Amino acid sequence: MPSPNAGLIGKQGSLREIMTPALVLDLDAFERNVRRYQQIVDLHKLQARPHAKSHKCAEIARRQMAAGAVGICTATLHEAEALAARGTSNILITSPIVGQGKQDRLLALLEQGITLTIVADHPEQIPSSASEHTLHVLVDVDLGMGRTGTRDAESALRLVDTISNTRGLSWQGLQAYSGQVQHIADLNERSKVYTDQLRSLADLIMALDKRGLKPATVSGGGTGTLAIDCREGILTEHQAGSYIFMDVEYNAVALGVQAAFETSLFVYSTVISSNVPGQATLDAGLKSFATDGPLPRIRDGAPSGTTYAFFGDEHGRLAFPDADHRLPPGSLVALETPHCDPTVNLHDYLHIAQNGALVDIWKIDARGSC
Ligand SMILES: Cc1ncc(COP(=O)(O)O)c(C=O)c1O
Repeated sequence: MPSPNAGLIGKQGSLREIMTPALVLDLDAFERNVRRYQQIVDLHKLQARPHAKSHKCAEIARRQMAAGAVGICTATLHEAEALAARGTSNILITSPIVGQGKQDRLLALLEQGITLTIVADHPEQIPSSASEHTLHVLVDVDLGMGRTGTRDAESALRLVDTISNTRGLSWQGLQAYSGQVQHIADLNERSKVYTDQLRSLADLIMALDKRGLKPATVSGGGTGTLAIDCREGILTEHQAGSYIFMDVEYNAVALGVQAAFETSLFVYSTVISSNVPGQATLDAGLKSFATDGPLPRIRDGAPSGTTYAFFGDEHGRLAFPDADHRLPPGSLVALETPHCDPTVNLHDYLHIAQNGALVDIWKIDARGSC
């Protein structure tokens, strides 16, 4: 079913008429973020492999690759399948794939002829019957988060051997992503924790090198570590995801001047009732925003100082700084999302806005599923 807002595309000023709750992308800010990221990684001779877990949208993957990315990352097999079906041709799945059912799907995806890379931290995650197409594999390295990844050089080396001795597989290098440092608000503090972690990665690279196993690819990094990854020069490939959208959570993180990105993603919501003095009820609640982070922040459509609070599954509560203030039913309010990735996963469409008009609607192709 097409978006109910499809009829507004291309009409001057049509953003004012958008039916809500709607996920809206400021196209110009988004395009600037895509270009800026590519310029930054180019300057530091890193390859861009942006993470599609943030957007789950083939049109965005296409634009990131058109800007110069070598490929994209997905967090899941389902995301990889959905994006490959819409033309994404080079994918790294950044979580291990386990179980026969998923490994069969993985090989079926490989049969489609795309360039496909997986990660492994255990021999169980390596498919036993590789197809005639080469499956690329990175050894996943734990930098201290404890989520996935080998935890010592010996197990990484053993895994490299196993991969190298399995027909149809090609060992490409390492993945090393540090999730817990990305949102450390202070840049110096983040840099201190993360550079310590990177030192263990550099040691592993050296140990591999000594055995004649220099990794061609060392993939990792996020929006929060971009400036540090550029400075340290250990990664060869960068996986930032949130930079295209930004959100309340990331806007509280000092990224470094060069790596400053603009908020491009909003939830538009409409006042549906305003009978209580000093407040109004919006049509966007717990089902429109991820709730693992801070509260949504008002960007536009309400007086400065107005705050948002969840008011139930389908409702939000605006509290005005002045009890006499009123926003009549039908008023449109734009809110910054608390945490962009899981918010996107709640919506079917991205409504593309430029100069006050709805100019396109992009499907969020890979939301949900397993
Ligand atoms: C493996 C991996 N790489 C990259 C990213 C992108 O991070 P960010 O959205 O902070 O840029 C994530 C995000 O969770 C991730 O899990």
